[in-house]
Amino acid sequence: MSADDPALGAEDYESLPYTSMPYAQTQPSRLAAIATLHGMAPPPVETASVLELGCASGGNLIPLAARFPQARFVGIDLGRKHVEEAALRIRDLALSNIEIRQGDIAELRVSEKFDYIICHGVFSWTPRAVQDAVFGICRETLSESGVALVSFNVLPGWRMRSAIRDLCLRHTAGEAAPSRRVVMARELLDDIAALASAGEPYGLLLRKEAQRIAHRPASYIMGEFMSAENTPFYFTDFDEQASRCGLAYLADADLDAAVPQTLSAPFLQRLSAYAGGDGSAREQYADYFTGRPFRSALLVNAEAPRSGFDSERLRLLHLSGDLRSVAHGSSFDDARGRAVRGKDPSVLQALSRLAAANPATLSFEEVIDDVGGESAVRLCEALGLLVKLGQIGASSVRLRVGGGDAAYPRAWELARLEAASGQPFVTSLAHAPVLVKQITGWMLYHLDGRMDRSGLEAALADALRSGEVRVPEMKQEGDGNVEHIAAAYVDRALRHLATKALLIKS
Ligand SMILES: C[S@@+](CC[C@H](N)C(=O)[O-])C[C@H]1O[C@@H](n2cnc3c(N)ncnc32)[C@H](O)[C@@H]1O
Repeated sequence: MSADDPALGAEDYESLPYTSMPYAQTQPSRLAAIATLHGMAPPPVETASVLELGCASGGNLIPLAARFPQARFVGIDLGRKHVEEAALRIRDLALSNIEIRQGDIAELRVSEKFDYIICHGVFSWTPRAVQDAVFGICRETLSESGVALVSFNVLPGWRMRSAIRDLCLRHTAGEAAPSRRVVMARELLDDIAALASAGEPYGLLLRKEAQRIAHRPASYIMGEFMSAENTPFYFTDFDEQASRCGLAYLADADLDAAVPQTLSAPFLQRLSAYAGGDGSAREQYADYFTGRPFRSALLVNAEAPRSGFDSERLRLLHLSGDLRSVAHGSSFDDARGRAVRGKDPSVLQALSRLAAANPATLSFEEVIDDVGGESAVRLCEALGLLVKLGQIGASSVRLRVGGGDAAYPRAWELARLEAASGQPFVTSLAHAPVLVKQITGWMLYHLDGRMDRSGLEAALADALRSGEVRVPEMKQEGDGNVEHIAAAYVDRALRHLATKALLIKS
């Protein structure tokens, strides 16, 4: 197989606009936190070596290189255009700790070791030779206590989606151009979303799936529903394949999805009984009962010492919580509006400290006063459960961020440059994409730490007057009110950027 082989589908990705972006769940500080919670001592992220297989134009890897200048990053992708785009971005950012090479995973020979390996959105969508090579590379190059993330489509959850895939493939079989095939598939999906029967389970399933896909980018529709390769796996098959290569499954990067909310507590307990104490079988039963379509599996060397999930090890990590206080701090809702369990005063105190610090992280010492006492043990257990449920976050790296009230507010350099490039999203310090409107992009670019709030307000008022930046209020209220409009925007934007982890702590 070579870079010219059309069966790979890499050309499909290249001929359609592909948005290469950061994925928070793939960041090494998260992988390291999950490994730590499973008894491992993973390499420090700040000085780690990181490999990404199938990195596209580096939307995930380049922000990590910008964030961790002492760490080293290597990306591999088959697509020439992706690699050229990445090279331009790396040059513009003047990064010297990252290299993105064009190459075929199946033919890759790497002699170096890597502490973290990321292979996201590649495994299920490539031929068997590439899948074998992904396991082989992880086995050969993962450092002793390193962690790899390999994501893939999952059975039986994907069975339900495969009816749509079959239909899209059949419907567009006579058309060669990927962009035209996506247009045809979208028309078909629109019909299904509007016309499929909502009165019986199969029709409803098709309708819901078509509605889910309708607004996804062309590259997603092509990649999932019309690419040459899309092989979903049973968890146990993936696990067996990995273990034959000397790798062991540790956990899912998306801990939230690993503790299915859709299963009641008694049902969850039954899973263990059905599985007879076999961890792999338990995961498999969970997939049958939840219909989960996707996994981000963390793999480690089979010999690496490790344990089950140990909440006590939260003491070694940094915690975060995007939480909203309800009823004056007597309970909290998480970012998805789910109620957070915990009535114990020490848990409530911890949650309220995390909520106040968000998006910055706090150490265990910072969330509880009495770190040695009985209540600390109970708190570890309670917070461990919330980490498993995805209601609070754990990271091996401390995150400090600026608030919107700094005298001379400053945005993260990478986000400033991303905003200036005109891309629709920027990368936060928490490695998440944040959509930015034109005016927010303008603000970000001007937050270089040299202007105070009144300077920013005056500069924005000028930009509004000249038409460089447009907002609907200018039409409604007219030029007379421009200072007022600018001041309100500066205030709102600074608060917004602070909550999204885009400002630097001075
Ligand atoms: C769906 S994209 C995922 C990109 C990125 N990892 C992400 O999650 O956004 C798949 C990428 O894998 C690359 N790819 C496919 N087959 C490959 C191979 N054999 N060797 C290297 N890269 C490959 C494609 O060029 C494409 O950029």
